Amino acid sequence: MILPELVFATNNKHKTEEIGKLLVNQYKVLNLKDIGCDVDIPETGNSFAENAELKSSYVTENFKLDCFADDSGLEIDALDNEPGIYSARYSGVRDDLENLNLVLKKMEGKANRKAHFKTVISLNQNNKNYLFEGVIYGHITQTPIGDEGFGYDPIFMPIGYDRTFAQMSMTEKNEISHRAIAMKKLIAFLKEQV
Ligand code: IMP
Repeated sequence: MILPELVFATNNKHKTEEIGKLLVNQYKVLNLKDIGCDVDIPETGNSFAENAELKSSYVTENFKLDCFADDSGLEIDALDNEPGIYSARYSGVRDDLENLNLVLKKMEGKANRKAHFKTVISLNQNNKNYLFEGVIYGHITQTPIGDEGFGYDPIFMPIGYDRTFAQMSMTEKNEISHRAIAMKKLIAFLKEQV
């Protein structure tokens, strides 16, 4: 059976395998390395959606392949939705601990600690573009708690939980996260297509 090819614009082999398993027998999911794309695609957009679209469109235009790409980050109400698209290098460097400490510093004395993680996935399929969004709401803790996960996980506690993302197993977080919500929407859409 020849499956339609679909590129996930990521260098993360693990992420590609995971989604490939969910779409088994429907799509052959390839990552950037699989298609010989070693360019660090510039993320110069002003929103998660723009950055995701830049990545998916780069692949579709240059490799003539259907493709999806994701972009995520943390938005904090009291900081006018910062760090937002700058989440990965909020402190100026790509260092999780420094970024997280900068957030805690900026949040000192703030009563409103509401925040959310957001993921936007851009899919280019058959010359059309589709967007899928996942959001999870919660609050920023006073101090980092937990050792699991990455990024801002130790300071984000989702609504309805008394543990941060960093206190959850990867399986538990993957059931409720912004990325999981957006991916589920993408997968449901792709399953309808075949
Ligand atoms: P990306 O677009 O998925 O690479 O995410 C960009 C940045 O947002 C990451 O480098 C993290 O700083 C932050 N971020 C995104 N998703 C998460 C998450 O699930 N937990 C913690 N931090 C995240």
